[in-house]
This record gives sequence, structure tokens and C-alpha cells, in this order.
Amino acid sequence: MTVTIKTADEQDKMRVAGRLAADVLDMIGEYVRPGITTGELDEICHKFITEVQGAIPAPLNYRGFPKSICTSVNHVVCHGIPGDRVLKAGDALNIDITVIKDGFHGDTSRMFFAGKPTIQAQRLSQIAYEGMWLGIEQLAAGKRLGDVGAAIQQHVEKHRCSVVREYCGHGIGRIFHEDPQVLHYGTAGTGLELRAGMTLTVEPMVNAGKASVRLLPDGWTVVTKDHSLSAQWEHTVLITDSGFEVLTLGADDR
Ligand code: MF3
Ligand code: CO
Ligand code: CO
Repeated sequence: MTVTIKTADEQDKMRVAGRLAADVLDMIGEYVRPGITTGELDEICHKFITEVQGAIPAPLNYRGFPKSICTSVNHVVCHGIPGDRVLKAGDALNIDITVIKDGFHGDTSRMFFAGKPTIQAQRLSQIAYEGMWLGIEQLAAGKRLGDVGAAIQQHVEKHRCSVVREYCGHGIGRIFHEDPQVLHYGTAGTGLELRAGMTLTVEPMVNAGKASVRLLPDGWTVVTKDHSLSAQWEHTVLITDSGFEVLTLGADDR
């Protein structure tokens, strides 16, 4: 396992990439409403990333992924492919943006709702959001990755939801998915010891039902096996001596 430590200059580049990824989510929010297709959301983001930001949408052609963003609706856990699906009132979706700027990646996702969210979707999104933040708050030099996973898992399971096991957070930098793997479950005090200068994502996928997932024949779309709702939030974070710096905060959070 090779975990890269970013230099001060590389950290600055990660800050820029992270900010751009967050800006895309800030931009797209107003377009998420009943009647729009996920493919149209993809086109709007693609144009913004390439023409306004002068950046590269990292998912496009990544291991054969055909679009520039991921749109994961309702029981889709992650890696949903934008297409002809028309959003209807009450749909909950995760939009996951990764951009490359000056050679470095910024990766972030949020939940959005078309029209008025259902109570269940609102609650699940809230639990995933809180889980992500409880995980992030564990991050500091000297802490261990198991501390992150345990904090998330305890919160999610306390609310009788489940943490997806097959997909995890990751180191990030010049490479989209670097070491280490950041599991969203685990045991406190175990696992890799964190060091200042590491950059990684925390991105728990939380299911309302069972944790099991299934991969659709398109080779990308991951769904809950029991068709229960799933929610996810993601930030890219820099480890510092005193704690952490979130690189993908939205305008409302900074
Ligand atoms: N952005 C996703 C993540 O958080 C990865 C998407 S890979 C893709 O790691 F190919 F589906 F875009
Ligand atoms: Co990620
Ligand atoms: Co992502």
C-alpha cells in the first residue's frame, strides 16, 4: 500500500480541485426538479466543468464509465449512469462530482430531492449526512482509519439503517482512487494511522433496509438487493496535525 503525503504545493492544488467540485454541486441544485432527466443534469454539469471551470470531469471514460457525473436515484446506491430517466416529484438522488484541475482530483457528492422529499428519504439522507460528518470529525494525525469507520457504523446502525460494505472512501490526489481504502464500518483503534498531508474521501452509503447490494448488467449501477432506499454524502478531506480540513465545502458551509 502506498499512501501519498501531499506537499504544501500539492495541498493547494487539492484545495482548488475540491472547491471546483463543490461549486458544481452548488450550481446544479436549482436544476433538480420534476421533469428533468438525469442525462440533462449530466450535460449541464459537463458543460460547466469543461467550459466555465476549465477542468476535466473525472468519471468520463474512467474504466469505461460513459458520462461525466454519477446520478443515483432512490434505491440506486452509487455509480448510477445519467440517461433518459425523468425525475418525478419525491425522487431522491445522489449527484457525485469529481473534477480534475491541474492534475489533482476533487470528489464530492450530496443528496438532492425532486420536489418535496418523502419523510423516509429525508430521514435516510439525514442519517447518511450525520454519519459522514461523524466520520470526518475523527480525522487527525495519529488517529486510525478504524476510528472513522466505527463512528459512522455506530451512528447508522443506532438508527436501524445499514452501511454498504462493497464500496468505500479512498485516498485521492493525482490518482482518482488511491490507497488507502476508507471503510465506513470497523473497529476503533485499528487500521492505518493517519498522517498530516494525506487526502482522502469519506462517503458512506447508507441503506434503509439490508446492507446487501447488487450490480446491474450495465456493469456500473449498484442497487440495494432488497430495493430499499439508499443515501450517500461525500467530502474530500485533508489531514492536518490538529485535525482536518474539508476541501469540498459548499458555499453554504464555508
Ligand atoms: N465519484 C465516485 C467516488 O466517490 C467514483 C465514481 S467512478 C465512476 O469514488 F466511474 F463511476 F464515475
Ligand atoms: Co470518492
Ligand atoms: Co465521488
